[in-house]
Amino acid sequence: MTQLSFAIKGDICHSLAPRQLECVEGGCAVCEDGRSAGVFRALPEQYAGLPVLDCTGRLVLPGLVDLHVHASQFAYRGTGMDMELLDWLNACAFPEESRFADLDYAARAYGRFVEDVVRGPNTRACVFATAHVEATLLLMDMLEKSGLVTMVGKVSMDTSAPDGLREPDAPSAARAVRSWLEAAQGRYERTQPMLTPRFIPSCSDALLRELGAIQRESGLPVQSHLSENRGEVQLVRELCPWSAFYGAAYDEYGLFGGDGCDTVMAHCVLSEEPELELIRERGVYIAHCPASNMNVSSGIAPVRRFLDMGLRAGLGSDVAGGTLTSIFRAMADAIQVSKLRWRLVDESLPALTAPEAFWLGTAGGGALFGTGSFKPGMEFDAIVLDDSRYVPEPAGDLPTRLERTIYLSENRDIEHKFVRGLRLF
Ligand code: GUN
Ligand code: FE
Repeated sequence: MTQLSFAIKGDICHSLAPRQLECVEGGCAVCEDGRSAGVFRALPEQYAGLPVLDCTGRLVLPGLVDLHVHASQFAYRGTGMDMELLDWLNACAFPEESRFADLDYAARAYGRFVEDVVRGPNTRACVFATAHVEATLLLMDMLEKSGLVTMVGKVSMDTSAPDGLREPDAPSAARAVRSWLEAAQGRYERTQPMLTPRFIPSCSDALLRELGAIQRESGLPVQSHLSENRGEVQLVRELCPWSAFYGAAYDEYGLFGGDGCDTVMAHCVLSEEPELELIRERGVYIAHCPASNMNVSSGIAPVRRFLDMGLRAGLGSDVAGGTLTSIFRAMADAIQVSKLRWRLVDESLPALTAPEAFWLGTAGGGALFGTGSFKPGMEFDAIVLDDSRYVPEPAGDLPTRLERTIYLSENRDIEHKFVRGLRLF
């Protein structure tokens, strides 16, 4: 039987709040039936019978959470990075995604993606597949088998792209979603479907209405893109002149958070006050994707504002807008772009600190999944890292080691990985 109750002994760091790290050197993180029982200086009497994995001197961190990644774009990372978003979608993303009609190709491309994420520090992800039902199920089968815990979306897109790169019309796009959900029903324990209208310009009003109806029937979570890039926001204004702002167009169809509708919106680089207010009111999660925002010339999201407003927020790799899946990289990028924003755009919004970036990439995004820290009751995801390669003696205090890990760690430094209590390696 798989062992889901154990303790890990090592140098533990996790976030209690955006500005509050808890660090325990030589402590114990206890997992009971796949859930955290807490972090202790010494193993409490009541857990004395548990097996203990001795990782003395190693860092023990919560698994990282990627709130926004396109599995279908992994194969062509680093292509077209001199373009802006809308041109890049037409030139690179849509043609590549159309290849997933071929299941052999999908198996190879998704195989590489899954292998990469398993070896890296992320334990959870909200994943975009493509519009293809069969290939999306194949990706879900592969993710399920990997031990990662993910939410996966068959992409819905029935307009504003050439034939062959989009679904033919709203009724057939809605039928495809229903048949995908039927096939996924009861098939997975660690892989959940997520409704995925690509973005407002890709979806007709009729399709958004259908997706809203499916959301209300099923209670499934929703993911999409919001206020990412100037050209895109302008296009939405032209397509939906009736909508007060971009987010209100999703909201019109019941695809923007609220009770029973967990929602992740990627980017929010250009969201203005009324949109941010609605995001707060509806408890929508913002996936901040700094690498992508640089690569496709979207700008710098006001993350300090998100934190000050108490919005739900996490980090996304947005591969292949971003190039690397590791959310450590997204943490470093988030800090760096926040410094540029502070220096060049708005000196009233201070840059992110390392603990804040760490919170975003763990507990911030993890809240969607009920994980992201070792607080009692959280689902237990952990990575054990050997930082001795890049932190020579004396190693220094734990917050310093954590900061250096954000900037310097590589997959080869990860010794063990646990997801919902299951040890992947
Ligand atoms: N908006 C709609 N589709 C996409 C996509 O594939 N990547 C990014 N970054 N933005 C999008
Ligand atoms: Fe994206």
